[in-house]
Amino acid sequence: MTNRIDTLIAQIEAFRPATGSEIEEFRIRILGRNGELNALMEEFRTVAPELKRELGQKLNALKTKATETINNLKATVSAALSQDVGQDDLTRPGTADEPGSRHPISLTRNLILDIFARLGYTVAEGPEIEDDRRVFSALNFPPEHPARDMQDTFFIRRNPDVLLRTHTSSIQVRTMESSGPPIRVVCPGRVFRNEAISYRAHCIFHQIEGLYVDENVSFADLKQSILYFARECFGPQTRIRLRPSYFPFTEPSAEVDVSCNLCAGKGCNVCKGTGWLEIMGCGMVDPNVLENCNIDSKRYSGFAFGMGVERIAMLRYGVRDLRLYFENDIRFLKQFATVI
Ligand code: DAH
Repeated sequence: MTNRIDTLIAQIEAFRPATGSEIEEFRIRILGRNGELNALMEEFRTVAPELKRELGQKLNALKTKATETINNLKATVSAALSQDVGQDDLTRPGTADEPGSRHPISLTRNLILDIFARLGYTVAEGPEIEDDRRVFSALNFPPEHPARDMQDTFFIRRNPDVLLRTHTSSIQVRTMESSGPPIRVVCPGRVFRNEAISYRAHCIFHQIEGLYVDENVSFADLKQSILYFARECFGPQTRIRLRPSYFPFTEPSAEVDVSCNLCAGKGCNVCKGTGWLEIMGCGMVDPNVLENCNIDSKRYSGFAFGMGVERIAMLRYGVRDLRLYFENDIRFLKQFATVI
């Protein structure tokens, strides 16, 4: 009997299972109801009393060894198994790859720049922190001129000559200063105004300014360029209307309306019953502005226009609240994933 116990112990120590079911088979063979341990226990009852003590200890040691070894082996196998599931279980649902989408303001900006690129305009940019000259005085806003109040300005306290640009017209000045005519540029950028935030106003927004300076540039050129833009942007049926207006840097100046594409000009709540939607300001560059930027106003003339990108985006996508563009709510942004 001692021999059989020793053989079993040796077998347990040498046991190297490859799978969980081999362990289970081994457990049943040794510890199962009809297994080897129970058979030995049965025999133990009949051994001579003087041998009982020594054999009893051996049997107990065998039982402990078998139970511990089998439990340890099972734990190792199940740990390995749960790791395998993480790496190799090809039946598990995958994690979806959600591509980002372009922001509706970027989409609209790109669309506008693209349209003007087809008319031969290149893109010019400039700094957001500007000096008074580029934002106001070179654009024919003399100091103390009431037109400065049209744009509530953020100034830098330490130096009132430095400010956050209120419009991208400052890039107009920079372009004229650095290169002579012919000039044909569109100037996109962020602008800043000290406005209370509401559904129709924000203290940060985006503009695109256009400038065309050459010999013999006329108001008719301006009108035709804007008509082309409006039809490319809002559809071929679009009509435009120019209303006289005032800007210090253009003379004459106008505000441009497009026919409301929601009601085809009949009047709805978006166009407030008028059939028209305002999209931009424009005009012939004031000769004073050309001279301020070292361009001979006797020889050259030009036109300029400026529009708010948020406004164009709102009209194209039917968005009624400007704040949505700045909150970065993924539920809002996701809707533009497939819009080009
Ligand atoms: N800078 C004007 C604004 O911010 C927009 C504008 C109007 C730009 C007329 C122009 C223009 O170039 O000709 O309100």
